[in-house]
Amino acid sequence: MAKPKKHVLVCVQGRPPGHPRGSCQLKGCNEVYQAFLEAFQARNLWADYALTNTGCIGPCSSGPSVLVYPEGVMYSGVGAADIGTIIDEHLIKDQPVERLRAPASVW
Ligand code: FES
Repeated sequence: MAKPKKHVLVCVQGRPPGHPRGSCQLKGCNEVYQAFLEAFQARNLWADYALTNTGCIGPCSSGPSVLVYPEGVMYSGVGAADIGTIIDEHLIKDQPVERLRAPASVW
């Protein structure tokens, strides 16, 4: 595999209900990861971009969390409906989606 232009990491960490840190899984991250998978497949993005589901990447309280490298842009509160925008604006046009960017207080 060639080095990807960008790598999308989607947190799919789960924790028991009531855990003080919460988790992205309790906030719908599975749907977010599934939406990325379907979009990567439908748009044939695999040749240029990487997608990985991962454990906790930090800002659990504001998940679902999505991290895009090499820029190190953290998105928080991501929903399945946001995936197309992240792909179109950030992955393809190289313009991070400011409205979804995690606040400086958490990342
Ligand atoms: S559980 Fe997803 S960022 Fe911590």
